[in-house]
Amino acid sequence: MPANTPNILKEKEIPLTGIQNKRVSVIGYGNQGRAHALNLRDSGIDVTIGARNTSNATKDAFNGVSIEEASTADLLIIALPDEVQGKVYNEQIAPHLLTNAGQTLGFIHGFAIHYGHIIPPEDVGVVMVAPKGPGITVREKYLAGSGVLALLAIEKENASKTSRSLALGWANGIGSARIGLLESTFKDETETDLFGEQAIIVGGLVTLIKASYETLVDAGYPPQLAYIECCHEVKLVADIIHERGIAEMMKAISNTAEMGAYEAMALLDDKHLREQLGELMSHIQDGSFAHRLTNGEIKNKRASLAAHKIEQVGEEIRSIIQHDDD
Ligand SMILES: NC(=O)c1ccc[n+]([C@@H]2O[C@H](COP(=O)([O-])OP(=O)(O)OC[C@H]3O[C@@H](n4cnc5c(N)ncnc54)[C@H](OP(=O)(O)O)[C@@H]3O)[C@@H](O)[C@H]2O)c1
Repeated sequence: MPANTPNILKEKEIPLTGIQNKRVSVIGYGNQGRAHALNLRDSGIDVTIGARNTSNATKDAFNGVSIEEASTADLLIIALPDEVQGKVYNEQIAPHLLTNAGQTLGFIHGFAIHYGHIIPPEDVGVVMVAPKGPGITVREKYLAGSGVLALLAIEKENASKTSRSLALGWANGIGSARIGLLESTFKDETETDLFGEQAIIVGGLVTLIKASYETLVDAGYPPQLAYIECCHEVKLVADIIHERGIAEMMKAISNTAEMGAYEAMALLDDKHLREQLGELMSHIQDGSFAHRLTNGEIKNKRASLAAHKIEQVGEEIRSIIQHDDD
């Protein structure tokens, strides 16, 4: 069943005013936390950083305090890794929240709320501003006078009914208003975000790169050539898709590559692939993926990928041809 078309808010509907003169804490100073904090400060918002180690924040001339101390702000932007948010919230944030003070918890990804790792009190609002890009891009685009498209979701209002205007101000302050805000929900953002990164932008892509590379190497071709064909050129094609779409990308490549693509698409996109994608989706929807993430299983998986031969070959090739990408 097709879903309703999401509403896209434009800049004039996303005023900074809701966050001005409010006390804002960013909890965690990593990839996203640093970008949100710097952008908000440059937009004139007074930001305090709550972190277990405040040294990076103080290096950037922020007021760095403990997570407990930062938990009394009007808007708490939770910029911690998803798998630790529940524990940190329960132990260090929840006991310090104020009663009926119009506080709002702000999330950059819906994970901890959607899977019930965080259950905020009745009077505390819950919102999300999820920029669709890494923290470094959120910062770079802001500095360049632009921004990153973000998803907006209002799970619930606080006792003072200021949560939505705080979220709009937050989105404006990080630069996302310059591009637009797509209205969504915690459920849709979480499940589509997890599915996208598993099925294609990380899991699917790396699987195809590795499997194709291994197929060429196993067939006796030089690993360096296999790397160039199966990994290096991914970015070149992805950039064209990103800028102009799939049909225009097809026009930009040779007829040979385009014809080969149609044949490969017909061959690869079979019943098995659709079943596997469905299985990824069911692990997201039933919470079993979220359970494995919070169990710390990730650590065992990192080492074997880093030790794969493609990484050594990749380092060699990148040192020769990196300048091609600039
Ligand atoms: N990475 C991205 O670009 C990206 C993109 C879209 C959405 N998001 C979302 O943004 C949120 C933050 O992700 P992130 O990638 O920015 O996080 P991150 O860089 O991995 O970590 C952020 C901060 O969390 C702190 N931290 C980690 N474990 C902690 C613990 N147990 N107690 C207290 N502090 C702890 C780290 O402190 P230390 O410095 O002391 O280790 C770091 O300052 C997540 O909801 C994520 O899904 C991220």
